[in-house]
Amino acid sequence: MPNSLLLLLLVLRAVAGDAAADSADPCAGRRIHIRDLPPRFNTHLLRHCDAAFPLADPSSSVTSAPTCESLANHGLGPRTHARSRSWYRTDARLLEPFFHRRLLERRCLVADPSLADAVFLPYYAALDSIPYVLDPSLLNSSALHGASLAQFLARDRPQILARRHGHDHFMVLGGSAWDHSQPPHAEPRLLGTTSLVRLPEFENFTFLALESRSWPWQEHAIPHPTSFHPASLPRLEAWLARARRSHRTTLMLFAGGVSRPSRPNIRGSILAECANRTDACVVVDCSAGKCSHDPVRYMRPMLGAKFCLEPPGDTPTRRSTFDAILAGCVPVFFEDAAARRQYGWHLPPGRYDEFSVYIQKETVVLGGVKIGETLAAVPDAEVRGMRERALEMAPRVLYRRHGSTAELREAGNDAVDLAVDGALRRIRRRARALEEGQPEGIYAQEDDSVDA
Ligand SMILES: *[C@@H]1O[C@H](CO)[C@@H](O)[C@H](O)[C@H]1NC(C)=O
Ligand SMILES: *[C@@H]1O[C@H](CO)[C@@H](O)[C@H](O)[C@H]1NC(C)=O
Ligand SMILES: *[C@@H]1O[C@H](CO)[C@@H](O)[C@H](O)[C@H]1NC(C)=O
Repeated sequence: MPNSLLLLLLVLRAVAGDAAADSADPCAGRRIHIRDLPPRFNTHLLRHCDAAFPLADPSSSVTSAPTCESLANHGLGPRTHARSRSWYRTDARLLEPFFHRRLLERRCLVADPSLADAVFLPYYAALDSIPYVLDPSLLNSSALHGASLAQFLARDRPQILARRHGHDHFMVLGGSAWDHSQPPHAEPRLLGTTSLVRLPEFENFTFLALESRSWPWQEHAIPHPTSFHPASLPRLEAWLARARRSHRTTLMLFAGGVSRPSRPNIRGSILAECANRTDACVVVDCSAGKCSHDPVRYMRPMLGAKFCLEPPGDTPTRRSTFDAILAGCVPVFFEDAAARRQYGWHLPPGRYDEFSVYIQKETVVLGGVKIGETLAAVPDAEVRGMRERALEMAPRVLYRRHGSTAELREAGNDAVDLAVDGALRRIRRRARALEEGQPEGIYAQEDDSVDA
């Protein structure tokens, strides 16, 4: 055979191979069925917003209360200003309706649950917990949070749930798993908590929560929403460029509660050090919910700071970590539970040293280490490098607006995309383990974080 003919044959075969790959099912392993739930499990929970949200935020008389306004834009909240395109007054508790809205935009949705690789439950779980969490007269029934959904799933087309014992079901929890993990039979009941993630009927579901506990294989953390929700690539790029060239005159910044804690802890040490070093440290008073609907309050100072201090609050994680990444303000962590052990699908755990600083909290609280001195000793070139890496991570942790341009969607995965991809990976792995009769594969505390 002449060489040229051979070559042609090889080329043809290669082309045929490519065509086969192209026609390979792009939805394989990615089909999602969105369960059709009665409105009492989702949209009706939004109808009572004015009644529910002032209750939900005890500080509401002091600050802009989350009201029905927060529901605007599918839960992103109202725009910060009439002319703003990408900034919203976002209330994290409304991540549930927003996530639902974004799921509806996905490719590979299937109406027939028997064809689905995963089943999404559009249950507004944290919103449904509000009465239990805030009304003392309902305290003793807080173990019932979610029970009515469990009953519905057991009765309505029960084969959807039974098919994989619930291992293919997932839902979003716009709050911390800690707040919903009281054992169902525990007495006395703790005010402010429910038992949702401990309900026996949900034992095999995957929960995507703003903060997870470290050991349960059912939970995974997804980023706290920030207020930046661009809908097009130029808007995203314009912001990142602004953060990149921003002039940073402050060494470090802390945005959070400003009351000195009664017992010594890392937040107290930070406040004490900042009170001493007003030249190097800026404190943004975010007490009593002052910041949650007013991003300008902290984003502007963050653009002017090199480092953002992220101590644990009531719980280990904080929204401010994601605001900082977005602002190119290098986050400083004081314990691993603050992020490294949480957001593996979004922030590669092996790369934290590239975009953040770690100062063990005990060395500060007990060992007399000064945060300001530690940070001032980091060479400028290194700070710039970390800032650059943080800004590279920013598109992965932000929540793109619904209805974004195709150009932005194709530019990379955002927080929702990565959360759903992670849930699908985990569910596929469990389905395989079930099929192969290897239950230990289901419960294995897998390391499924990404290394982007
Ligand atoms: C809740 O139950 C405890 C006993 O476990 C009881 O002492 C308390 O009065 C109950 N509270 C309400 C509001 O019913
Ligand atoms: C959870 O999955 C296991 C199998 O992995 C099954 O035996 C169990 O019944 C399931 N639990 C529920 C509540 O469906
Ligand atoms: C604040 O300054 C005083 C006096 O210079 C010093 O004794 C104290 O240790 C400082 N506190 C902190 C937290 O830096």
